[in-house]
Order: sequence, then C-alpha cells, then structure tokens
Amino acid sequence: MPAPHPAPALLPHPGKVSSLGGRLTLDRDTTVRALPGAEPAADLLRTLVGRPSGLPLTPSPDGRVVLALDDRLGGLGEEGYGLTVAPQALQLRAAHRTGLLRGIQTIRQLLPAEALSGGATGTGSWELPCVEITDVPDRPWRGAMLDVARRFQPIGYLRRYVDLLALHKLNVLHLHLTDDQGWRMPVDAYPRLISVGSRRERSQKGPTGPDGAHFDAVPHEGHYTKAELRGLVRYAAERGITVVPEIEMPGHVRAALAAYPELGNHPGRQLDVWTRWGVCDTILGVHEGVFDFCRAVLEEVMDVFPSPYIHIGGEECPTTEWEDSPAARERAAALGLAGPAELHGWFMGRVGAFLVERGRIPLGWVENGAELPPEFTVMTWRDASHARAAARRGHQVIAAHHRATYLDYAQSTDPSEPVAQPGAPVPLHTVHGYEPAPHDWPEAERARVLGTQVQLWTEYARTPEEIEYLSFPRLCALADRSWSGGRGDWPGFVERLRHHTARLDALGVPYRPLDARSLATAVSASPSAGTARLHP
Ligand code: ACM
Repeated sequence: MPAPHPAPALLPHPGKVSSLGGRLTLDRDTTVRALPGAEPAADLLRTLVGRPSGLPLTPSPDGRVVLALDDRLGGLGEEGYGLTVAPQALQLRAAHRTGLLRGIQTIRQLLPAEALSGGATGTGSWELPCVEITDVPDRPWRGAMLDVARRFQPIGYLRRYVDLLALHKLNVLHLHLTDDQGWRMPVDAYPRLISVGSRRERSQKGPTGPDGAHFDAVPHEGHYTKAELRGLVRYAAERGITVVPEIEMPGHVRAALAAYPELGNHPGRQLDVWTRWGVCDTILGVHEGVFDFCRAVLEEVMDVFPSPYIHIGGEECPTTEWEDSPAARERAAALGLAGPAELHGWFMGRVGAFLVERGRIPLGWVENGAELPPEFTVMTWRDASHARAAARRGHQVIAAHHRATYLDYAQSTDPSEPVAQPGAPVPLHTVHGYEPAPHDWPEAERARVLGTQVQLWTEYARTPEEIEYLSFPRLCALADRSWSGGRGDWPGFVERLRHHTARLDALGVPYRPLDARSLATAVSASPSAGTARLHP
C-alpha cells in the first residue's frame, strides 16, 4: 500500500524521515528565532533561503522558525540534526553548529525547486511539507577534489562549486593547487612560482593519439591571491565545508621547476611549465634547499588554510632522475636506503613529520601506503585492494578508487559524450554503488575509512560548464551514498534524482541528462573490474 504521505525527495537521503501530512507556509511575516550559538545558521538560512526566495526571515524572539543548539542531540555527532516541520512552526536542532548547517540544506530541499533560483512566487509565500527528520552522515569525509592546476578557475567559480557541494551535504573541497602544468597559490618567499609557474604557453588538445599529441596556441594562466583563498576558506566554513589544500611533491612539480630550476636534479636546466598531459619525469631533488622550499611553502599554505589536513600529493613520481643523479644516489646510500627509489618514502615522511610538528595531519595519494608512516592519512585511488591494505597497516583512509570516483572519465558509452580521460566510462550506477569500506572487512579496518570523495582532474574540463557536466549528476550519487551508507537503494536514488534535477535546473547546473545510457546498470558495474588508470 502506498504511504499516506510520500516522503520528500531529498538528496542525500536522510536517516529517518516521516511525512506528517500538512504544510507550513513561509511568507514575508515569517520570523526566525536563533537561540544562542545558532546565529550563523540563521545567517545562512537568510542567505540561502531568504535571499533567493525574497523572504526577509527577520530575526525575532518569538519566531516560528526556531534554530537551536541542543546538547541532548550529542549522540548525532558533529553533523547530525533533527528537523520538525509542523503546520505552524519549524524547529531545527543539533548539538553542533555544523549539524544546523546541514539541516539548512534540508530545508532548502523541502522548498519548491524554484525557491532556489530566486523565482518569484506571485503570492510572496512558499510552502514546505510537514516532516520529522533525524539525520546523521555515515562517514565524516565526503568530499570533492577539483584540479585548478590544469585549468585555473576564478575564485567566484570556486564559491559556486562550494555551494553545490553544500547543497549535497559534502563537507570537503580538496583543491589541487599545483601540478606540472601550473602553480596557483602565491608564496611570498618564492614569487616566481606565480610570475613564472602560473602560466603555460599552450595546452595539449585531447588525449595523445597514435600520431602523438596536438596543442592549441592559447597561453593558459591564472592564480589566486591569498586574500581570495582566505575568503574562500571563510565562505566554505560558513557552509560547513573544509577546504583542504594540496601542494604536490616530489613529482608533479614541473611548474615549480620552471620557476626555480635549482630545486631539481639538474640545476642548470631551464624547463617550461609543462604543456602536455600525463606523468612527467622531472621531479624535485633531495638536497636541503628542496626541504627549505617545501617547509617555506607549507608554512604559507598553513597560514592561509586552517584545515587539519594538508595534502602533499606524492603519486606518480618516476624516480629515474634520482637513479641517474650521483647526488641522489649518495644521499640514498648515506641514509642507508636500498636505492634511490626509496628516497620517495623518506621524502614524504620527512615533509609529513614537519606537518605533524606543526599540528597538522599529512595527507598523501598512495597505492597501499606501505612506504608512509602511520601518521599519514592516505587517499587510495589506483587499485580497489589498496584501501583495505592501507587500513590494515593502520592508516586512516579516504577511499577514492579511480574506477568509481574519477569524474574525468566519460559518463556513458554514448558516442556524443565530450572528450574525456581515456578509459571505460564511470557511469552513475558505479559511483552510487561504490562502498569505501565494504561490510565484509573486519570492523577495525572499516573504522579507519574516513569516507570518500569524487575527483575532477581537468585536462578535459576547461570551463565551468564542462566541470558541471562531468560533475553532475555523479556528484549527487557519491553524496547520496557517502551520507547514507547502504540506506539508499539504486531505484530509490534514481527516483529522488529525477526530482532533484529540478533543483539543479533552478541553479543553472548543466548536468548530464538522465537517459537510458547514463542510467545503465551494466557498464563497468564493478569498480574492481576496472583497468589501471591510463595516462595519455
Ligand atoms: C592521481 O590520479 N593523480 C592521484
């Protein structure tokens, strides 16, 4: 028998939701009572609901919309909240500020989609269905990585991206700020990182084919100011999102080497900021000047980003330059290492220890984490078995397997999909089915999995439109799964997503349309069946 009142189509799906029947009307006379500590949530409500819907939501001690911090909800953790919408009143409660911020996003989704876009109501009022919701996320890390090194995007666009993450209750924006093809954050101690490293002469067009790589003739450049990045950190914090910065080392550093050749293994060599895609074999040297550089850069990064986690990359670092370098070979021998390849773990460990000394948690891309000390939290990406191997070794893990969470792969086999990273598609169904900590693992290993995140590498995503086409709706699938754990089944998700697209429409998101191809359940159904990531 159908439920008397169908549940609202919320995304992500809340833990417990009951429809009570009836509706609450918000109009120009509706006022908001924020109890002590809940004022930031009331401000966000006015920004995200009041402003676009045209309702003042004026503060008042006898407001019908009540936002309250309440210790009795401590069991719901940092992000959990309780929401009751009744015909005469709305009450949002949480033990912590962040829980209230998550609840505000639920209130937004209970409103008609047009309320998100500033559409006029005609009557000057909006209605919400009456519901009772108790909601808690499954895991504490639900993120999205955006690569602004390959393609710079202005700070205003990053704020929009943050708002789209917040709508889906994601809580981490991982900013990939540096790579071979560009350096985007100014460092006072090393000004050439921007004056030289933030510009490349041209960019590879499309993947490398049998006839090699092709290039456009368009210089690409851009960088943020520290004030912009601090503003982004604040903007994200107001929405309950942490911005985690990533500075790549000891590989993926060609832009830094173009600026400061002395940081490399051949100080007399002048390199360009790389114009190709793929893995570059020019890497940092292992002399003390390099560690001075890493420390100085990270000091300035920590000054701008209060995030407990600082990402220092670490992946795809060919060690041929160290093997060919007498200085690196000597250093490896002096350290008692078996060979120059082992300098990689030593390098990461040394920089990680510096971050730990400064009270931060080092984060790195790893395969199985075997070379890193346990204080590193690791992002596993390459093989489905790596997340468990790292958890077994004692690392905290963010599981980001490329065959389930990399949004630079095409979304379907449709020949009209835009140019994408070579490899089989990563369809919506695969993202939704991704289980970062499978239930058949021992509980101690599952408990070390902080969560998961999507990755958008931007070799083939040049514009905000291309970023959003690749991100949506797959980001919705990761958000649903990572907030709800196993609660949301695929048919239920698709049904809710069909309603949710009206919200994306209202916000002007050019998502990939839902059709038989993008909703297919048989393509690359298992993340573990994927191929190794291929670089062009
Ligand atoms: C990666 O895909 N470069 C972690």
